[in-house]
Amino acid sequence: MSEVFDRLWERLAPLGRHRTTGGYRRFSWGPADAEVRAWFTESARALGLDVETDRNGNLWAWWGAPGPDAVVTGSHLDSVPDGGAYDGPLGVVSALAAVAELRGRGLRPRRPLAVTVFVEEEGARFGVPCLGTRLLTGAITPDRAARLTDAEGTTWAAAMAGAGLDPERIGADPDLLGRVGVFVELHVEQGRALARTDAPVGVASAVWPHGRWRLDFAGQADHAGTTRLADRNDPMLPFAETVLAARAAAHANDALATIGKVHVAPNGTNAIPSRVRAWLDARAPSEAALRAVVQRVDSAARRSAADHGVTLATYLESASPVVHFDRALRDRIAALVGGAAGPAPVLPTGAGHDAAVLSSAVPTAMLFVRNPTGLSHAPEEFVEPADRHAGVAALTEVLAELAGA
Ligand code: GLV
Ligand code: MN
Ligand code: MN
Ligand code: MN
Repeated sequence: MSEVFDRLWERLAPLGRHRTTGGYRRFSWGPADAEVRAWFTESARALGLDVETDRNGNLWAWWGAPGPDAVVTGSHLDSVPDGGAYDGPLGVVSALAAVAELRGRGLRPRRPLAVTVFVEEEGARFGVPCLGTRLLTGAITPDRAARLTDAEGTTWAAAMAGAGLDPERIGADPDLLGRVGVFVELHVEQGRALARTDAPVGVASAVWPHGRWRLDFAGQADHAGTTRLADRNDPMLPFAETVLAARAAAHANDALATIGKVHVAPNGTNAIPSRVRAWLDARAPSEAALRAVVQRVDSAARRSAADHGVTLATYLESASPVVHFDRALRDRIAALVGGAAGPAPVLPTGAGHDAAVLSSAVPTAMLFVRNPTGLSHAPEEFVEPADRHAGVAALTEVLAELAGA
């Protein structure tokens, strides 16, 4: 099984990789995305699977007639800007390698099996993460999704049409969802919990509630060399104070808050900015803590904007409620994966996943594969080759058990 994994991994690795940063820039419906989608279709067909594109652009590679009560596994191939190689692709390549292993053993699953690739998991281009599964489950309306724009003002509908798909058809797909009996996503661990254990593979218990907010600070552009400090309406100042307030709010609530993306207009060294647009990513172990963080950031930002004669408008871009994965499924998988050594470690995460969105509709579980440094959403993200293979072996056993192969 490791040969299939290694061969698929090697072919995928150069696609969408930036020459100087070494990070991945695989953004939905762009050229690198087309390459990785073609790679998936070709690879799945070579394994004898039938590949379909659903109405929202997600890819499904079926072993056996589609549904009902199918066992489905997969992840995503899009990346954050300069992301790592494993976040998403590890789950897709492992899923294909696990299917190849089951086929190679000559086993015939009693339930249909499918490998999926979900679109726009990171929300890196259009702002809303897990857009493919949000659309599939009806968690976002087709109208809102169609109108989401990227940094250049291209809409989701236009970008999808540019990739040859029909954006008129996007939206909830209860028929397709109804064919899914269970979904399992394998993912690189994005923290350091497994690195402290002897276990290469763990099982997810929960995903923290989280969300993304946009803050638009609007002031007055003016000359950097002639405008007295007292005469300025500089939106950079409340922005800077908000970054610090977010850090303090997270600290006070045992939570996480990040401002990792900012657009400054007009972005000139010798001009006071007219506008600073910033995005807040906040996550917490409980809904109450998340609310507390966001309220504290919001009031600090408003106070600071008023102090500096700047206006502030805020928008909720996406909300992801807390998710507890199916307990019986999780315990069954942890026992199976852990084997004679006892149950595999069970851990929560602050990272969002398609599996979490799907858990509102179907029993869902996640496998995490050890990451030696915990680094993720960065080019240095890593999984040891032996652990990649351990992940495939674990997923193979899980699929065999669930599909009755
Ligand atoms: C997605 O990877 C997220 O949780 O940011
Ligand atoms: Mn990610
Ligand atoms: Mn991911
Ligand atoms: Mn994610």
